[in-house]
Amino acid sequence: MFTRVARRAFTTTRVNPYKVTVLGAGGGIGQPLSLLLKLNHKVTDLRLYDLKGAPGVAADLSHIPTNSKVSGFAPDNNGLSQALSNTDVVLIPAGVPRKPGMTRDDLFSINASIVRDLASAAGEAAPNAKILVISNPVNSTVPIVAESLKKKGVYSPNRLFGVTTLDSIRASRFISEVQGTNPTQEHVNVVGGHSGITILPLISQTKYSNMDKATKDALIHRIQFGGDEVVKAKDGAGSATLSMAQAGAVFANAVLSGLAGERDVVANSFVDSPLYKSEGIDFFSSPITLGPEGVTKIHPIGEISSEEAELLAKAKETLKKNIEKGVQFVNN
Ligand code: NAD
Ligand code: LMR
Repeated sequence: MFTRVARRAFTTTRVNPYKVTVLGAGGGIGQPLSLLLKLNHKVTDLRLYDLKGAPGVAADLSHIPTNSKVSGFAPDNNGLSQALSNTDVVLIPAGVPRKPGMTRDDLFSINASIVRDLASAAGEAAPNAKILVISNPVNSTVPIVAESLKKKGVYSPNRLFGVTTLDSIRASRFISEVQGTNPTQEHVNVVGGHSGITILPLISQTKYSNMDKATKDALIHRIQFGGDEVVKAKDGAGSATLSMAQAGAVFANAVLSGLAGERDVVANSFVDSPLYKSEGIDFFSSPITLGPEGVTKIHPIGEISSEEAELLAKAKETLKKNIEKGVQFVNN
């Protein structure tokens, strides 16, 4: 039960009533992500869709007394388009996760068609929605969404995001472990893509730029391959879900803050980017400013060291192939 004061606080949070849809809401990421979105006061209408389990997750979350309605949808009765109808933000964590020994690219054969079909449905039912792609391999699934929306004639580069926030939060945590500092006060600009060597943490831009080389190399490697630590520890039961839910909720909140017209909302994301287009790399993660229309500014990566320039060159080679693979999947 709410006190009158709490009720008043509630009313003030109704200023930005946003509809948010999670596709894959019954899964390892989908459930905790939906919980965190239920706790976000910017969200007033939360729609959960999955091949299985979403109505149950929705019923469970609906008992939490925050200012949002929660609805669960299954594939029958046109559930996907109902979940998407006129929504403002779509998060896509649908698809299979890795098992030990797999790369993210090994997920392509299953996840590519899942993401393509969900993107097409979003293009029809919510052509103006901001779409946040979590399903791996992100370096390819984001171009898949772009091409699917182009086919529907509703692609707008400023409304599509690959969620790379987990790399940023890992970088904050791991650098704080090396330095013995408070992780909430650490920020590392992580650019490129979201797999292995395409993940490029720019340590030279932090206050620890003169860290010794062996420590720095180990830190960079841990940030690039942090996902493997979780896959190995889960031993066949999937990949990061809880830290990913937190990362997804943080990035969704940034997108909602932009929608609400808050100023100076900056976060890193894998977007349709002009930074390396001349080299044939159409998508790249760097800091972006978010506003009511989605991406309002794409920032360059900033000054980098000669070692980082070498890593960037290697990252770009892989990224280019990953992006082309996604584009070709939809067009062939
Ligand atoms: P999971 O298997 O626990 O959950 C996936 C859910 O997707 C399941 O509930 C499944 O029923 C659902 N699903 C499958 N096909 C669907 C469809 N066509 N429509 C709707 N729902 C569908 O997996 P998870 O651990 O939640 O991971 C999901 C994806 O997220 C994986 O591809 C994983 O690699 C990726 N991931 C990305 C990041 C990142 O940083 N971007 C981090 C972690 C995991
Ligand atoms: C991660 O970075 O944890 C995710 O991309 C999941 C994975 O496969 O590692």
